Amino acid sequence: MMIEDLLLPESILPHLQSRRLGTIIHHYLETGSTNDAARQLAEQGAAEGTVVLAEEQTQGRGRLGRSWLSERGAGIYASILLRPVLKPRDAAVLALVAAVAANEAIERGCGLTADIKWPNDLLLSGRKCCGILSEMQAEGEVIRYVIVGIGINVNHSTFPEELGQRATSLRVEGKQFYSRVAMLCALLQRFELLYDDLQRGNRAAVLQLWVERSSFAFGKQVTVDLGSGKKIEGQTAGLSELGNLRVKLADGRVEEVMSGDIVAWR
Ligand code: BTN
Repeated sequence: MMIEDLLLPESILPHLQSRRLGTIIHHYLETGSTNDAARQLAEQGAAEGTVVLAEEQTQGRGRLGRSWLSERGAGIYASILLRPVLKPRDAAVLALVAAVAANEAIERGCGLTADIKWPNDLLLSGRKCCGILSEMQAEGEVIRYVIVGIGINVNHSTFPEELGQRATSLRVEGKQFYSRVAMLCALLQRFELLYDDLQRGNRAAVLQLWVERSSFAFGKQVTVDLGSGKKIEGQTAGLSELGNLRVKLADGRVEEVMSGDIVAWR
């Protein structure tokens, strides 16, 4: 780990062009999960835009109860605290927006074009390089806060065997080191713009960016694991206005998937 690429506030702030996201940074050399640290800060009243960063996570968490490999100094492990003025049912879109922001940051920063696998996995050469875990705390119809946790495999050179078939990094794909500081700044800047757009009511436009950047949006044959042992198979048919995946089944019915995992595709 090179000192100059540590994700320290003093390394990041001079390069940061966002106005709110990332202006308050909590940096840990090691923590359990940045999402958990961010939640604690949120409960203590931390401001919107507060970002928690770690060089290493010992309990990095993924979607659907999975873990997230968080090798020291190799990736970006970031959690962004948001206090959006949205209805809870609209908050799922935030994770899709984060995926678009990460996708654009990777393209601009590395010249690598990742695919977005619904809802918010970024793939390079069919393998995952970025994942997003968005967690919301609401009271009735009011969102108290949302933590958007983003993990990007930036400079990992190898992965443990069981992950090797499914995971990759920007370094493996681009065959060079990338600056995590530059990548994070680009991500926060882009995320802030899209987040502001969303809150101004431009949800359709923001979701359209997702559609344009994902080969999974239309016409992909997929198997979706809905949990509790239930799976569906069909062809993707775009997103609903809430960001749900529309899947056209063999009998012609269209099912809207709110939460699930695409486990096979072609
Ligand atoms: C997934 O694809 O399953 C989501 C992975 C999310 C990983 C990030 S790393 C930063 C933040 N802290 C966590 O514990 N998880 C998220």
